[in-house]
Amino acid sequence: MDGLGHEPVMRADVVRLLLPEPRPGLRLIDLTVGLGGHAEALLEAAPPDAQLIGLDRDPNALERAGARLECFGARVTLLQSPFSGMSEAMDRLGWAKVDGVLADLGVSSLQLDDAQRGFSFQSDAPLDMRMDPTRGESAAALLARLDERELGVLIRELGEEPAARRIARSIKRSDEPPTTTGALRAAVHRAVGPRRGRRNLDPSTLTFQALRIAVNAELDELDAILTQLPERLAEHGRAVVLSYHSLEDRRVKRTFALWAKACVCPPELPICQCGGRARARALTRRVATPSEEEIARNPRARSARLRAIEWLDAAGDEG
Ligand SMILES: C[S@@+](CC[C@H](N)C(=O)[O-])C[C@H]1O[C@@H](n2cnc3c(N)ncnc32)[C@H](O)[C@@H]1O
Repeated sequence: MDGLGHEPVMRADVVRLLLPEPRPGLRLIDLTVGLGGHAEALLEAAPPDAQLIGLDRDPNALERAGARLECFGARVTLLQSPFSGMSEAMDRLGWAKVDGVLADLGVSSLQLDDAQRGFSFQSDAPLDMRMDPTRGESAAALLARLDERELGVLIRELGEEPAARRIARSIKRSDEPPTTTGALRAAVHRAVGPRRGRRNLDPSTLTFQALRIAVNAELDELDAILTQLPERLAEHGRAVVLSYHSLEDRRVKRTFALWAKACVCPPELPICQCGGRARARALTRRVATPSEEEIARNPRARSARLRAIEWLDAAGDEG
């Protein structure tokens, strides 16, 4: 996560992994350009003819990124789009393949710190949570639409909240469904008390997370990108994903591991019969995390998990 005055998360690792060597005509995509922190670092480190597409679904973020990246002129194209629109964006620019893709998932500091966006329980504001405030259903509308059972399932699955049923009951049995962050937080506190668990988190943290993931279809978006990468990464192209919760990280881990696996024979076969080749190479041994120093400087980096791969298999997809 980045904000004005914040450095982008694991900046040096992202640059090192996406730009292993200066190559002419490099093409990069920042799927979550946010405030342009990573994009700026990449363009500064890349050869002067490198080009970058920056996507974000939040028009405010794009405005900030546009100002920050103005000095790079025509090397940068910024588009308002969910990142599931990556292939479409590439087609618009006539890019068949891309050399480097970055996804720094989740919300930006700009979104968290703007109380009116409704992402945070730190202050009372309308319960919105849409990254693109011009379309889709707000968190308040979602709460009003779901019944108690559906809401309980959502909070359990997307928040991994053990008290999901109790919380859903408290929300749906309030006099009116909550329409502000304060009312939602109060409904959670009524269900579970103002307890603070591990890491001293507010008890409504996981409920807010679940709603945000649902409102922005965050897991569907991630799945869409993981489906598009094999078709769009150039041979030796690289992808770096920064996740901030285990639901995302698990998906990335599983998919990258599958691509890096050569043999896909069932385990009961004594010798390989598929003759399979790995399609990608893992660039991070296990998962990479920010240093203690970075977390001390920027506590919001605390939960970051970085995974990276290099694509090997041009033949497999180009035919
Ligand atoms: C953590 S911030 C990125 C910060 C950025 N790396 C920087 O250095 O400034 C995440 C950004 O991704 C955007 N975002 C999240 N999910 C998205 C999606 N599915 N499609 C497009 N943008 C998305 C958010 O609007 C937010 O601006």
